[in-house]
Amino acid sequence: MSLRTLGVALAGREYDVLVGRNLVCGAGSRVRPLLRRPFAPVVMDETVADLHGEALRASLQEAGVDCPAIVIPPGEQAKSFEGLAELCDRLLALGVERSDRIIAFGGGVVGDLAGFAAAIVKRGVDVIQIPTTLLAQVDSSVGGKTAIDSPRGKNLIGAFHQPRLVLADLGVLATLPRRELACGYAEVLKYGMLGDAAFFAWLEANGSEVLALAEAPLADAVSRCVEMKAEIVAEDEREGGRRALLNLGHTFGHAAEALTGFGETLKHGEAVGLGCAQAFRFSASLGLCQGADADRVEAAVAAAGLPTRMSQVFGEPPSADALIEAMGQDKKAEGGELTFILARGIGKAFVARGVARDPLRTFLLTEGARP
Ligand code: GLY
Repeated sequence: MSLRTLGVALAGREYDVLVGRNLVCGAGSRVRPLLRRPFAPVVMDETVADLHGEALRASLQEAGVDCPAIVIPPGEQAKSFEGLAELCDRLLALGVERSDRIIAFGGGVVGDLAGFAAAIVKRGVDVIQIPTTLLAQVDSSVGGKTAIDSPRGKNLIGAFHQPRLVLADLGVLATLPRRELACGYAEVLKYGMLGDAAFFAWLEANGSEVLALAEAPLADAVSRCVEMKAEIVAEDEREGGRRALLNLGHTFGHAAEALTGFGETLKHGEAVGLGCAQAFRFSASLGLCQGADADRVEAAVAAAGLPTRMSQVFGEPPSADALIEAMGQDKKAEGGELTFILARGIGKAFVARGVARDPLRTFLLTEGARP
């Protein structure tokens, strides 16, 4: 399979996202030319260190790069002030200089945490993202969003800090648990739903091949997502407008995640799948899109084994008020008003500000929320 190079065209800070195979075991020769001195700390969690740490280390060392490993515990808890402080301290203890680059090797947690540490250590060092989950490859490693969580919510403290290079090695996805793969696939579907009806239709036909990690369909799907994300980020880096479309499914999803405690009950990608299904049903209930579009979205999400209904997630349904309250904590809320990404059809998402609470409450009751 050929290597695909997709550029993120940010003036003066443009970078490449490489999508292909053997990018971890070949990382040294791609990373070395970006380094001012042959030194690049690698931040990864214990799981990735066990599975792929040696392959990356061997490649970097073969290219003459000293690559001390900083191994953190797996899981979202690492994205805390304490986790950030510890990581910054370890980077400083290694003598990281302003002109060094650090490598974030892992899924969304490591990418967000190491990316944020890179944004603030010595007032900013460059980061190279080597994402190891489907979700990180198609979404979080591209576009420069970095963050830790606050006790008041997820990703509330962070910075935009674009990477210098992203290496999306499709081969490493073979070690992903099926549930994680489905979570990433929710984000893949999201791109079709928000802006590319032909891609969505292609996924309806080929999604099972993508999920089975068949070489060409997987490469096509990841590349299309990265291409769309790169184009959106280049146009709207700081989410003043169109980038918000990438949050399709996130307002509903965020509420379900919050009410299940941001834990294993409902993972982020599962919440995005559920949220996309709800966003399309809500759009249909408002007369914005056809019910048939909402049905296709629901079928595509369900086909990946992702939840599409609250009853699949909650033993006891939450109240409509609790859901609306949780939606108010979403980062897109402005002046107390709720913002949703709604759709006029598949591939036709738009930002809907100031969504009224009454039709939302009515919709949530039809979704099975308690009055
Ligand atoms: N994950 C949404 C974004 O990067 O904007």
